[in-house]
Amino acid sequence: MADWQGRFLLIWLLCLCLGSTPLTLGMDLCSQSFCQCPEAGKEVICTCSNPNQNIIIDDKSVPIQAKVVFISECGSVDIRSNSFAQCRDLAHLQFTNLKELELKPNFYSESELEYKELSNLTVSRIGRVTINPQAFVNFPKTSRSSFHEVGIREVRERDLEILTDEFSLTNSEIGILGRASLYSDAGLLEFKNNRIEFIESTAFDASVRRFEFIGNTIDHIENSGMSVACLNGKIIGNTFHNQTGSPLLDFGPDPVCVPDPEAETEEDMQYNVVANPILEFTDNFFHIFTDDMLNFPGANNVPLGALDIRGNKVKCDCEAIKEFAALVDFEHVVPREHTLQRGALLFRKEFYDSGICVDANGQEQSLKAFARNWIKVVEPGENQEELDSDQEQISTPPPSLLSNGHLECSSHPEQNL
Ligand SMILES: *[C@@H]1O[C@H](CO)[C@@H](O)[C@H](O)[C@H]1NC(C)=O
Ligand SMILES: *[C@@H]1O[C@H](CO)[C@@H](O)[C@H](O)[C@H]1NC(C)=O
Repeated sequence: MADWQGRFLLIWLLCLCLGSTPLTLGMDLCSQSFCQCPEAGKEVICTCSNPNQNIIIDDKSVPIQAKVVFISECGSVDIRSNSFAQCRDLAHLQFTNLKELELKPNFYSESELEYKELSNLTVSRIGRVTINPQAFVNFPKTSRSSFHEVGIREVRERDLEILTDEFSLTNSEIGILGRASLYSDAGLLEFKNNRIEFIESTAFDASVRRFEFIGNTIDHIENSGMSVACLNGKIIGNTFHNQTGSPLLDFGPDPVCVPDPEAETEEDMQYNVVANPILEFTDNFFHIFTDDMLNFPGANNVPLGALDIRGNKVKCDCEAIKEFAALVDFEHVVPREHTLQRGALLFRKEFYDSGICVDANGQEQSLKAFARNWIKVVEPGENQEELDSDQEQISTPPPSLLSNGHLECSSHPEQNL
């Protein structure tokens, strides 16, 4: 090998090494030009000057005295394991305006931190957040954790298991919210204005005081997708494009009970209700109506005065709602056997009485008025062909469902209300 070749190779290797350093090792943030560390390093404020700058944070990056760590305006930020374990006073951790944020397993600490509490975790305006399995293991208890305007492709089992008093996910794009992906015993669990492609069965593992699920758009939700127990529940203004089975099956407004202090022995222990649940279920739009979708046993636990069901929408599709209407509105003319409990029927009646249907032109009308207008009671012996000649023959319902007559959708409404 000629001398110049050897030297070239050496220089080339050196460049390779130096060049790759920032990719594999974390940096001491306070020695970087884009970071400021006022108050003797109690605050670490990094604002990238170049939106494509990639930074790596590891256990050498943040000074032990840091109380506040704010990182913003960068390309990708990769947070390695154990990056904050040394910071005993850390209270605010904030990542904003990044293209990507990747949280590696145990990113906060590799060992359990006793008595450590964080005030604020804020993750906002981030194109893609990647949460590795076990990322939040050993993450300290936090007052408020908020994710705002973030993209997350998939949240898998226990990925968002954060011990926090308030958890909020707002204005974000989520691909899949997987089974048991969101553990929470928070005081407030807030989901607002998100688009979620798919909510798997038992996606939530949550027992919270207040649950607010407002203004979200969900492409598909599976049976038991809303597996949340709460004292005060708000499910308002959401759009559900499709579902499998009964998404609300495990949604439980639960009374809060405490043991009776008068009880003498453990066997006599009685639990007293100290607070009754409240439920608002209003202005949601279910694009595909099925009767199963209205299986909501938890609604039975809510005292009538605390139950607000109103303005929920379905499409004006007579065939789709016919059986439902028969159950809640035409029972006197078409008595039928059903196994619904009183509470289950109550929820359906409220949904129907206060519901709205939306026609193909986007016009809205009362669901009840629509049903009464389009559904005809066919008395036994009456010829349905005569009644509605241009409609396909519908198979006769089983005899147990049909005592006096049955219901048909007419092709033209009898009167316009
Ligand atoms: C958390 O951060 C937000 C936004 O930076 C701030 O408004 C709020 O006061 C912080 N909360 C606490 C408990 O410090
Ligand atoms: C709705 O979901 C059901 C059940 O998964 C599926 O069979 C059906 O094709 C879906 N409908 C639409 C319009 O996507």
